[in-house]
Formats: sequence, structure tokens, C-alpha cells
Amino acid sequence: MASQPVCPKCGGTGYIIVERANVSGASPCDCRFQGRAERLEGRAQIPVNYREATFDNFSVPGPENPIERRELTNVLLAVKGYLRTFPDEKRPGLLLIGETGTGKTHLAVAALKQIMAKGFECLFWNYQNLLDSIRAGYDPISNTSDREAYRAVLEAQVLLLDDLGAHRVTEWVEDTITSIITYRCDHRMPLIATTNVPDADAGSVVQGRRTLGEQIGSRARSRLYEMCTVVKMPLMEDFRLRKAKKL
Ligand SMILES: Nc1ncnc2c1ncn2[C@@H]1O[C@H](COP(=O)(O)OP(=O)(O)OP(=O)(O)O)[C@@H](O)[C@H]1O
Ligand SMILES: [Mg+2]
Ligand SMILES: [Zn+2]
Repeated sequence: MASQPVCPKCGGTGYIIVERANVSGASPCDCRFQGRAERLEGRAQIPVNYREATFDNFSVPGPENPIERRELTNVLLAVKGYLRTFPDEKRPGLLLIGETGTGKTHLAVAALKQIMAKGFECLFWNYQNLLDSIRAGYDPISNTSDREAYRAVLEAQVLLLDDLGAHRVTEWVEDTITSIITYRCDHRMPLIATTNVPDADAGSVVQGRRTLGEQIGSRARSRLYEMCTVVKMPLMEDFRLRKAKKL
């Protein structure tokens, strides 16, 4: 077993003795905070597929594609602007909206990592998995005896809700997502959400498609707009298909 290096400042006790006006007292040593971001990342439940996602490996097209280049640069600026003022009481949320494969989850995870680096406790949940877990907690014949998933998303310091609205709509789904968003909005608790469900107010083309309001309900949608910086992804080719073609 590898031995843990002992901190030379505190000798591994986690405290250092400081003298103030001839009185000595214990104060926490810096080493207690080292590795906090790593520990937070370990607990955030980020799916393996996105563990490496950062701003550094988010590519922006070159000058040969000026429109996409400009639009994606603006998206990056908006997300980084959100991080700069994080956590903003008035607008603690971020909503990334756009077509499939445009990099919403990648950017949301990249943002989450920077937030964890600031020391915030973050939690990633895929919308559909979350609803399934909550439902299991409500089901008296299932093994899950409590409402752990539900409590965790209410209480998480920062919640990433991925693929919002990607679930068939029932009254129960609408009530559940409304209560989660309402709680976080009322308590000004950061929520980062991604969705590929179109919404006219975010500039999506909605024609003939189910909208965000229809998928999550108008009350949840209204609160999202109240609490979030809304970032619309540019219309571009699905990055997954692009990568597949290159192989
Ligand atoms: N600009 C980019 N640079 C590098 N990788 C990217 C970029 N955009 C997307 N990717 C990669 O392409 C894949 C798909 O991106 P991502 O999952 O973020 O899309 P999405 O918009 O969330 O799609 P969906 O709506 O289907 O969930 C991921 O592996 C992601 O890391
Ligand atoms: Mg996604
Ligand atoms: Zn120490």
C-alpha cells in the first residue's frame, strides 16, 4: 500500500498552531482543502462518457467556417460569463438548449467541473434516470424504501439536469419536475440544465415538434426562464455523426 505523504506544515494533524497576541490557537491547515475538488468530482456522478469533457477539449471550428465559429465562440463566452459571476443570486441557473449532438452536455459538465474547483458540491442527473429513480422510491413494492434521489436533487448545492424534457409526459412527471424546479428557484439554488426540446422563446424552430412547455409543463418552464441564463446552441451537424464519419 502506498503511504500517504505527511504534511510538513501540520505533521498530518490537519491543524497548525497560530499565535495571536500571545494566545495560541489551532487553525485548519491548507492541506485539509487539497484534493477537495477531486473528492467532489468523485461524488458528482458524472457519466464516464463525459468525465474528460472540459473547455480545453471543446473544439471551435476554424476560419473556414466563420458562422459556426462565431456562434460557438459566443456560446463559450456566455457559459464562461455565467461561471464568472457564479453563484448569482438573481440568476443562479444555466439552460443550454439546442439540437442533439451540439455539445450541450459536454459544456454543462465542463462548467460543473469549474464550479467544483471552486469547492461547490455538485450532482449530475440524467432527467430520465432521475424520474425513474424517484418513481422507484415512491413505489411501495420496490426495494428503494425512501425518497433519496428526490431529496438529493433538492438539496444538492449545484444540480446538473441533463436532457430535460426527454421523457413521456404524464401528470406525475410534470408535478415532479415542477416541484424540483420550483424548490431550486425559490431557494435560489443553482441548476444547470440541458435540453434538445425546442422552445420558441430560445429561438428554436418549433414547427410540428413538442415544445419545452409541453414536455415539462408551463410552470416549470416559466421558472427556468426566471432563474436561468439561457444559451442557445447553433444549428450545426451532430458532433457524434461528424466524429463517426472521420473514423
Ligand atoms: N465542439 C465540440 N468539441 C469537442 N467535442 C464535442 C464538441 N461538441 C460535442 N462534442 C462531443 O460530441 C459528443 C456529443 O456531444 P454532447 O453529448 O455534449 O451533445 P448534446 O448536445 O448534449 O446532445 P444530446 O442533445 O443528444 O444530449 C460528446 O462526446 C462530446 O464530448
Ligand atoms: Mg446531452
Ligand atoms: Zn497540513
